Amino acid sequence: MFRDITTLLKDPIGLRTTIDTITERYRPQKIDKVIGIESRGFIFAAPVAYTLGAGFVPIRKQGKLPAETISCDYQLEYGCDKIEIHADAINQGDRVLMIDDLIATGGTMEAAIKLVQEMGADIIECCFVIDLPNVGGSQRLRQQGHQLHSLCSFND
Ligand code: PRP
Ligand code: MG
Repeated sequence: MFRDITTLLKDPIGLRTTIDTITERYRPQKIDKVIGIESRGFIFAAPVAYTLGAGFVPIRKQGKLPAETISCDYQLEYGCDKIEIHADAINQGDRVLMIDDLIATGGTMEAAIKLVQEMGADIIECCFVIDLPNVGGSQRLRQQGHQLHSLCSFND
């Protein structure tokens, strides 16, 4: 079962409601940087950062960022991959919000959290549009002590 966000994105009310719902949750939190995870995370993270008046920082797949990076390997269903962030993207103590479209195994966000924590950031929350709780990633990351929030979940 593949959960497709393009039907949500093409709907003007759906898109606006999604961005507004995320933004309103974090408006009181004085977020310095919103981190979006390539590629589907970018779609939500950039407008949320803009609306909050925060900076946007991309975490990208290997070899895409032009300046000095730090990187983290993570497991995929088949094989492994690497994500990277610019070494100067986060300042010590920055209040950051992590955004991705979906959490399944949690491997992508787990690697992203490692990168951002390594840089001394204060991760306020990891936000997803969709959680697939039966895959177990969100439960695993919560058990590690991370704060997670998702707008909706699908159990099948
Ligand atoms: C998908 C999705 C999440 C990740 C979730 O990204 O957008 O980033 O998988 O899976 P996980 O919780 O099991 O790690 P994908 O790597 O397919 O790339 P894309 O965003 O570029 O489409
Ligand atoms: Mg993705």
